[in-house]
Amino acid sequence: MKIYKTRDYDDMSRKAANLIAAQVIMKPDCVLGLATGSTPIGAYRRLVQMNQEGDLDFSRVTTVNLDEYKGISPDNSQSYRYFMDENLFNKVNIDKRMTYVPDGMEADSQAACRKYNEILRAVGPADLQLLGLGHNGHIGFNEPGDIFEKETHCVTLSERTIQANRRFFDSEEEVPRQAYTMGIGTIMSARNILLLVAGQDKAEIVKNAFFGPITPRVPASVLQLHPGVILVADEAALSQCDLPLSGQL
Ligand code: F6R
Repeated sequence: MKIYKTRDYDDMSRKAANLIAAQVIMKPDCVLGLATGSTPIGAYRRLVQMNQEGDLDFSRVTTVNLDEYKGISPDNSQSYRYFMDENLFNKVNIDKRMTYVPDGMEADSQAACRKYNEILRAVGPADLQLLGLGHNGHIGFNEPGDIFEKETHCVTLSERTIQANRRFFDSEEEVPRQAYTMGIGTIMSARNILLLVAGQDKAEIVKNAFFGPITPRVPASVLQLHPGVILVADEAALSQCDLPLSGQL
């Protein structure tokens, strides 16, 4: 695992955007695995800027998103499809038909997961998978459990995740209880993984996930087994880790 320690959130976002841009420049028809949440917003903003300044072309890029709430439509401002449209897709020259997010409106969970697995297989492994980190160690919506789930599945969100998502909804009742998420097997099949983490509140889980035992109780810990992980994290998020001087492992 390569670790880049950054000064703060902005510095993290700039480095992340540079790494994603490098991927797109090196392979213009690449597959990007994308994430939602607060963490990647700054990186998306910079990618939009690079695109608008004519320095980055998304016209041949395919994207696959990690997850989507079940029962929320794409035009609901809390849906992950809406988030991606607002923060990236509507602002760059990407072909929206090449952007994939699980279908939250498919009520039949098995059908929704089967459909997304077929898309993921057809599109092929992500060249670069972007990830954020949940306070309980979740990646995508792979919550702590007894096994690492391989493929797309429907999850019941943990109380901690529901509370973390609460800030985006008017009331707690509105926070979705279920979501469709890419599985750990699919995430691990990405050629390279770019994990972004910022903030003191993530310091403990960063230590446990990347310097503790590999266990499905801490889903992100499986990333220790992937040869192409780059962790870009700010000083606060790395504050409980005993890093060598270079800041890299
Ligand atoms: C989002 C996702 C989640 C988030 C995680 C961190 O698509 O899959 O795993 O990356 O919950 O969220 P933030 O960035 O809001 O702290």
